Amino acid sequence: MAKARATYLCSRCGERSAQWQGQCPGCGEWNTLTLAMSAAPRPAPGPASQTGAHLARPDSRLSSGMDEFDRVLGGGLMPGSVTLIGGEPGIGKSTLLLQAAAALSGTCAVLYASGEESADQISQRAARLELQAAAISIVPETRIEAILDHCARLAARVLIIDSIQTMALDELPGGAGSVTQLRAAAGALVAHAKSTGTAVLMIGHVTKEGLIAGPRLLEHLVDTVLYFESEAGSRFRLVRAVKNRYGAAQEIGVFAMGERGLREVKNPSAIFLSRHEAPVSGSIVLVTREGTRPLLVEVQALVDESRAAPPRRVAVGLDANRVALLLAILHRHAGVSLGSHDVFVNVVGGVRVEETAADLPALLAVVSSLRERPIAADFLSFGELGLAGEVRPVAGGEERLRAAAKHGFKRAIIPKANLPKSDVGLELIPVTRLIDALGVLNRGG
Ligand code: TYD
Ligand code: MG
Repeated sequence: MAKARATYLCSRCGERSAQWQGQCPGCGEWNTLTLAMSAAPRPAPGPASQTGAHLARPDSRLSSGMDEFDRVLGGGLMPGSVTLIGGEPGIGKSTLLLQAAAALSGTCAVLYASGEESADQISQRAARLELQAAAISIVPETRIEAILDHCARLAARVLIIDSIQTMALDELPGGAGSVTQLRAAAGALVAHAKSTGTAVLMIGHVTKEGLIAGPRLLEHLVDTVLYFESEAGSRFRLVRAVKNRYGAAQEIGVFAMGERGLREVKNPSAIFLSRHEAPVSGSIVLVTREGTRPLLVEVQALVDESRAAPPRRVAVGLDANRVALLLAILHRHAGVSLGSHDVFVNVVGGVRVEETAADLPALLAVVSSLRERPIAADFLSFGELGLAGEVRPVAGGEERLRAAAKHGFKRAIIPKANLPKSDVGLELIPVTRLIDALGVLNRGG
């Protein structure tokens, strides 16, 4: 096959140039030219330009072999797309992409470029996971130019970069890991994806201290941004789409890490509900809708007399500022003062609930704990709270209720404006104000 010819592509206007230049000859912008190989004369499948991206037919997508992963991607991997997968070291990024690579290599050429591990180490891992890795081309390489060369030679339609922090362009001064190299390496990969239709998946490590040269810097460059989430010590892994040009943002895929890698969890609601023998105070189930799938999760609260001043407020799985705001609403509009109490709120299972539908259930759990009044186990709730103490509707109310009914729930405290037109198989208690919702609790919910 003919050797790949280097061309440089402007990330702003798309102008091509045979040599690298500081300033784009097309639009005059500085430092926008990045390397793109042009060889491998094959039709670029899917979107070759960003403007045409939304016109691509969904059936051109490639399957990762895992429904949970395909869902977060928006229905499979889009040719020509660039996906960034971030997460803490050791959370399972390489494992997930190696599993995906094995499945993808059944239908097209896949190149796995690793600057983290040797080809042997990766092959051994693949063998341990019982993956068909023979069809994956694994190269231990950190030079982007060499990787794109390999890519062209193999006519790879999927390129996996593990990790972007280990990659560098020869033409730039300084080694891998600097902000300049990180941006330039990612830029070159984006240009390659767009000019050849190759789907690029790049891993980015998120470290506690190192947000400086981390994946965040690259979010605006790529089409899709996925982050791994997990509770410390838990074997469950959530992969969340925080940005997706080809699918719903906030979509999550759920996996369990086991002996043989990541296994899909097809009914994730089951793992987020802790089963109590008898109803306990401070616990209620809410239906959240992260992405397109309703998910049942349990929110727990513990309210205790405080020995500290100011009292402690700890939120796990919910936004701490939102919880502070909710406690202010509770005080102002329901007369419940927690000024001398510590408040801990936790979402079970390591899932983070971003949406405001958790407002009402969070406060129901808080008041249930304070009053030591258990909420019946077949009860659930969702709803947003306004600063005036009003209960506001949330999107997809009927769908949430149907999901809850399917899981055996019987009764729901919901925003009045979310009352469905047809029967959903639940006894519904519509409320318009926080105080009314707390009244239901007092009546022995
Ligand atoms: P890895 O995918 O290497 O993490 P990352 O690429 O995000 O740094 O996952 C490494 C962790 O997962 C490691 O601690 C071992 C564990 N693991 C398993 O428990 N089972 C497995 O089958 C594999 C491959 C890894
Ligand atoms: Mg890794």
